[in-house]
Amino acid sequence: MNIEIRNEAFGDEAKIHQVTEQAFLNTQHADHTEQFIVDALRRAGALTISLVAQVDGDIVGHVAISPVTLSDSTSGWFGLGPISIIPEFQGRGIGSQLMQRSLAVLETMGASGCTVLGDPAFYGRFGFTVVDGLVFPGVPDEYFQALSFSDEFPQGEVSYHEAFSAEG
Ligand SMILES: CC(C)(COP(=O)(O)OP(=O)(O)OC[C@H]1O[C@@H](n2cnc3c(N)ncnc32)[C@H](O)[C@@H]1OP(=O)(O)O)[C@@H](O)C(=O)NCCC(=O)NCCS
Repeated sequence: MNIEIRNEAFGDEAKIHQVTEQAFLNTQHADHTEQFIVDALRRAGALTISLVAQVDGDIVGHVAISPVTLSDSTSGWFGLGPISIIPEFQGRGIGSQLMQRSLAVLETMGASGCTVLGDPAFYGRFGFTVVDGLVFPGVPDEYFQALSFSDEFPQGEVSYHEAFSAEG
């Protein structure tokens, strides 16, 4: 299997929308609005990182990273997600490659750290941990995790971009 991870390019938008929709179609705990979130982030100029995974030339996965706001005014933090692999290609290591590459890009950019909302079993393996005092309101503590590129973590509440409320 020939997997290529690359930046989103002009013309990929519709395929990314489709891949995101398909990936979350049968996922529990999903809002099924993830494809609209990616579109809205792009429109708002808030898709800081947008990587696609291609297998034999076809886009089968995508990850979005956008800026988050911290209530303690710490800057340089980002939120990873949505991350999507179409069902036929899940479980083959492609999501892990997207995770590793996007975190490497963030670190190279000089980001302070990254947060994720989702399954701790998946994200823990990339270095994300639950951080005491760093919360995303309305989500059980174990489903909100962070990774710092230094040893420092902010404290308080994290807010994602307003595009995360997009529903269509
Ligand atoms: C979650 C997702 C991005 C992972 O991508 P993937 O290519 O399937 O994952 P990988 O093949 O790299 O899996 C790496 C490991 O994580 C595990 N894993 C995959 N998805 C997982 C999940 N949702 N929860 C816990 N573990 C998961 C795999 O079993 C694998 O473990 P192993 O190495 O011990 O076998 C993909 O399955 C997906 O798009 N799912 C639907 C959408 C979704 O849930 N997105 C994340 C929102 S939180």
